[in-house]
Amino acid sequence: MSADILFTNIGELTTNAPGLGDDPDDRTGLMRDAALLVVDGRVAWVGPAADAPAPAAAQAPNRERTTKRRENGYAPRSRRADVLSRSRGVADAGDRDGEGADAAVVDAGGRAVIPGFVDSHTHLVFAGDRADEFEARMRGEAYAAGGIRRTVAATRAATDAELRARLARFVAELHAQGTTTFEVKTGYDLTVAGEARLARLAREVTDEVTFLGAHVVPAEFADDRAAYIDLVCGPMLEAVRPHARWIDVFCETGAFTAEESERVLRAGLAAGLGVRVHGNQLGAGEGVRIAVERGAASVDHCTYPTDDDVAALAASDTVATLLPGVEFSTRHPYPDARRLIDAGVTVAIASDANPGTSFTTSMPLMIALAVREMRMTVAEAVWSATAGGARALRRADVGHLGVGARAHVVLLDAPTRTHLAYRPGVPLVRAVYRDGAPLG
Ligand code: NIG
Ligand code: FE
Repeated sequence: MSADILFTNIGELTTNAPGLGDDPDDRTGLMRDAALLVVDGRVAWVGPAADAPAPAAAQAPNRERTTKRRENGYAPRSRRADVLSRSRGVADAGDRDGEGADAAVVDAGGRAVIPGFVDSHTHLVFAGDRADEFEARMRGEAYAAGGIRRTVAATRAATDAELRARLARFVAELHAQGTTTFEVKTGYDLTVAGEARLARLAREVTDEVTFLGAHVVPAEFADDRAAYIDLVCGPMLEAVRPHARWIDVFCETGAFTAEESERVLRAGLAAGLGVRVHGNQLGAGEGVRIAVERGAASVDHCTYPTDDDVAALAASDTVATLLPGVEFSTRHPYPDARRLIDAGVTVAIASDANPGTSFTTSMPLMIALAVREMRMTVAEAVWSATAGGARALRRADVGHLGVGARAHVVLLDAPTRTHLAYRPGVPLVRAVYRDGAPLG
């Protein structure tokens, strides 16, 4: 269990807790000159730095006194300087050589703090890459979903150890860029045992595993699509089910039709999985409609929604998850987030990290693209990359820093969150804490 930590001297704290911020109408709950106390890996107190309580660990060297102090609650202290002077090990955040890891007080030095990113859409369990396809697209060729089969061949040939090593590298990338919760989909094996293997490996690194047997029809079933759907809805689903929380389908021309997609989603629901959909990525289609009808937590891509789709989303609990890394890498037009937000749709942004259409794990890049290309404000983009992702995964414990939330805390090497879009490509994540424990 991590030590209790007081983050103080935070120049700008995004809590995503409405009502907690300086402006009561701001759903990002932005506070200036703030402090945040973590106890047992959860947010225990948030407020003005001037009122910050002292962390128990800073004052009580042994467990007994710590426990007693907890029972007594935390008395607000009037001056931050007082808190700092009473603490052992005040650390400059990000100082890995000094006392940073164990310090009870982390002085953010006036920098910005945000909740850890929630990347609700990745395909990170795969082998090989398709850099040649990317180069061809940059020369003007169109993206074709058929490329998925190349990754399927490479993934089938990879050992567990290879896939684990790659996953570990990707997880390190995610953490280094501030992502503390992420989803991983299967979908690059497309056999019963293989999809179960990918789900099992994904489950080693995240609770948010999605069964995507309906990614494309594999080559060996090209002449009998119905038999493949039977396999997905029957033995494959049964084999993957113990490892997965969600089912997903790529509803798109060149992948699965609306009818096929509906069958897959119904089977997943009957097996107790939650529903997600890849829809309207390459053109107007029926993905959004069927996602809303099936009560999907999220419909992802939404690059080409119709007016009816937008209205249906606005009237539903289904999140529209936009994936601007895909438009970056396929040269399709970026989705218009403004149109969705203004209609009342809940919008998330995610990386879609995969070797075909978006080989990046960077949520800061998604924020920069969302602000530059999708008509989102910085506040909206940061919310969508944190609280929005949490909504897309139906999680209340992450994506915000209100009292009770998991202490997934990202300290930026910047005075404001605006720098995430204003300084694209610059590594601005200075320190990351998961459940109150420093990573890296
Ligand atoms: O989300 N759209 C379907 N699946 C991926 C692409 C996968 C690939 O091309 O390998 C996506 O973009
Ligand atoms: Fe995807």
